[in-house]
Amino acid sequence: MRATVRIGVLFGGPSAEHEVSCASALGVARALAGQGHRVVALGLTRTGGLRLLPEPVLAQHLGTVAAGRAIDDRLPVTGPAVELRRGAAAGTVAVTAADAPATVHAELDVVFPVLHGPYGEDGVVQGLLESLGVPYVGCGILASAVGMDKVAMKRALRAEDVPTTPYVWFDEPTWRAAADPEKLVVGLRGPLFVKPARMGSSIGISRVADGDDLVAAVEEAFRHDHVVLVEQGVTGRELECGVLGGWQPEASAVGEVRVAGGWFDYRQKYFGDADPMIVPAPLPDEVTERIRELSVRAFTAIGGWGLARVDFLYDETTGDLFVNELNTLPGFTAHSMYPKVWAESGVTYPEVVDRLVALAFARHAARPSTAHPGGTP
Ligand SMILES: Nc1ncnc2c1ncn2[C@@H]1O[C@H](COP(=O)(O)OP(=O)(O)O)[C@@H](O)[C@H]1O
Ligand SMILES: [Mg+2]
Repeated sequence: MRATVRIGVLFGGPSAEHEVSCASALGVARALAGQGHRVVALGLTRTGGLRLLPEPVLAQHLGTVAAGRAIDDRLPVTGPAVELRRGAAAGTVAVTAADAPATVHAELDVVFPVLHGPYGEDGVVQGLLESLGVPYVGCGILASAVGMDKVAMKRALRAEDVPTTPYVWFDEPTWRAAADPEKLVVGLRGPLFVKPARMGSSIGISRVADGDDLVAAVEEAFRHDHVVLVEQGVTGRELECGVLGGWQPEASAVGEVRVAGGWFDYRQKYFGDADPMIVPAPLPDEVTERIRELSVRAFTAIGGWGLARVDFLYDETTGDLFVNELNTLPGFTAHSMYPKVWAESGVTYPEVVDRLVALAFARHAARPSTAHPGGTP
């Protein structure tokens, strides 16, 4: 990798994890600046506008760790409105004034999206960056989209013999047309988990115990997506593993999230007091090894590149171990699980970030020669 790289850190965005993204981005920006790279901080507003964070504001945040909770130490989304356009040199992108395309504020060699959930983690931003022809960190369009869609993800995992929980899925017209829609949910043992196919942050998800209102749970999920899945619940532990790499990805140590009240709902994720993470997870060696092996297999199954956090459900009494989901842009604050499991494996936060940037260039360089000049078709 060249000595000083001009890196655009993209953060914020329309998702419910806007603040988490702003906190993750500050961590990433500090690590990059600490290695002598030039950081350009690009905040996405909740409505999709792009803002260039003025350099003095960025410098101030890089230099001072804000007191309070981890989430309070974050970059603001503020500054002049800008757009991304093709740069003068091949493989670069220009940050121009939104109202004056000839006014170039900065040029970038690589973009590091630190966005969570729909838009940033589902292939939309990845497609934009592909069409601009600029290298970017993390999964490409397909892996991002598959990682966001829980039905597509389960299909990809099952095709590679990665165990996932039993489930059924249906779209909204099918549910509405059914004489007895509850009959669409067959062959599953309760408690059930009802989920919109493409969301995140536990939004729209309900746990439905025997006797609870399944129809109300499905209606709630349809508020967030037109495809819904109903899964068999697993009573047990939640374990998470980091994957990092390209053609030969590696798995980190395993961490555990201890949740209260049966499942990790939106309130606990973002408003819980206790730090529920335990690293490394206390597990027999063979279970840890199986999780690490399945994590790499799951990553490969979706066509991952760069990074993902693979989340598991583990029932100790039966020994059942399932991949619950992959997150292709996991939380990246200093207190997030992804950096923590890598630190446990001896890879520091700056080293993780450095490897991710190198992997972005490696993928770009490995594009097929038939690639559309604007990106990989
Ligand atoms: N099949 C299941 N069995 C038990 N708990 C589950 C199941 N599916 C989801 N959960 C609980 O719900 C949480 C959120 O579900 P998840 O599929 O991870 O959605 P999200 O993408 O919103 O994080 C999980 O962290 C877990 O606590
Ligand atoms: Mg989850």
